[in-house]
Amino acid sequence: MSFLVFLLIKLQRLDNKIPAEGLGVKEYLPPYLDPSIQINDLLTGVCFASAGSGYDPQTTNQTRAIPMLDQLDLFKEYLGKLETNIGEEAAKEIITNNVFLVVASTNDMLFSLPASGLPDDVYDSMLVNLTLSFVQELYKLGARKIGVFSAPPVGCLPVERTLEGGLLRMCAENQNQQAQIFNNMLKGQLPILESNLPQSRIAFVDFYNPLISIINNPEQYGLEVTNRGCCGTGLIEFSYTCNQLVGTCPDDSKYLFFDSGHLSEIGCYIFANLTLPGLVENLF
Ligand SMILES: *[C@@H]1O[C@H](CO)[C@@H](O)[C@H](O)[C@H]1NC(C)=O
Ligand SMILES: *[C@@H]1O[C@H](CO)[C@@H](O)[C@H](O)[C@H]1NC(C)=O
Ligand SMILES: *[C@@H]1O[C@H](CO)[C@@H](O)[C@H](O)[C@H]1NC(C)=O
Repeated sequence: MSFLVFLLIKLQRLDNKIPAEGLGVKEYLPPYLDPSIQINDLLTGVCFASAGSGYDPQTTNQTRAIPMLDQLDLFKEYLGKLETNIGEEAAKEIITNNVFLVVASTNDMLFSLPASGLPDDVYDSMLVNLTLSFVQELYKLGARKIGVFSAPPVGCLPVERTLEGGLLRMCAENQNQQAQIFNNMLKGQLPILESNLPQSRIAFVDFYNPLISIINNPEQYGLEVTNRGCCGTGLIEFSYTCNQLVGTCPDDSKYLFFDSGHLSEIGCYIFANLTLPGLVENLF
């Protein structure tokens, strides 16, 4: 489970004791759609992510994930439940003071950019616009502290090395460049958006450079393998195609990626450790 290619909106109650235990008051954010979800889960944070989602409706049309705007509808439904349970004022307090993380764009680059036929910079500009309007919608619903992830180095995902990286399975430079065009535009636009939305804190979360650093210096982070996933051959398998034939690697704590598109658990921890201190500073 990883947040590499999925949209996540996390709502988390932040006590004053940050960032010792990351941002968390609990180990995992449960999915909002889990039928067994309890009111206490709603109070401390839930996840609206859908595997394969993206900002571009064309992406979810291909992947059949829950479109971003439908995820916003789920969030509205969540708000209603919160108000019913704890009252309007308390609900507002939670939404205002807690953190939202928005993580998307990888699937847009993998699925919709090539299909669009548009030049990279035109597609990326459209994607940035979709990102900014999504953030604005969250703001309209009450969110004030919003972290927006950049794209990761898409070309260094093990699957993209296999498909686009030649015999040596190098990082696919054209895809990394698409990601960087998007990231640079996004990084420029978020402060402008923030200044237009009173009382908002909107942080750009760099998901690109920390991963490049880990990929290029695995031993510095206690890792051994950063160009293959732990499951199956590590070259191509994703999620449910993972354990059909080959099983998994003996020790996933040495791998940055669990499957060919998603970080391993240790990979998530390392990334979070690199990122959280700066994020907290930017949001509070
Ligand atoms: C989704 O894809 C189908 C089939 O390719 C197409 O007919 C439809 O217009 C698409 N929907 C959107 C919202 O683009
Ligand atoms: C994105 O929005 C900006 C500002 O509204 C606009 O100038 C630009 O043309 C848009 N980009 C695309 C590709 O639609
Ligand atoms: C992350 O930071 C915590 C607290 O400093 C530390 O205990 C943990 O070992 C770190 N994890 C990784 C994977 O670096």
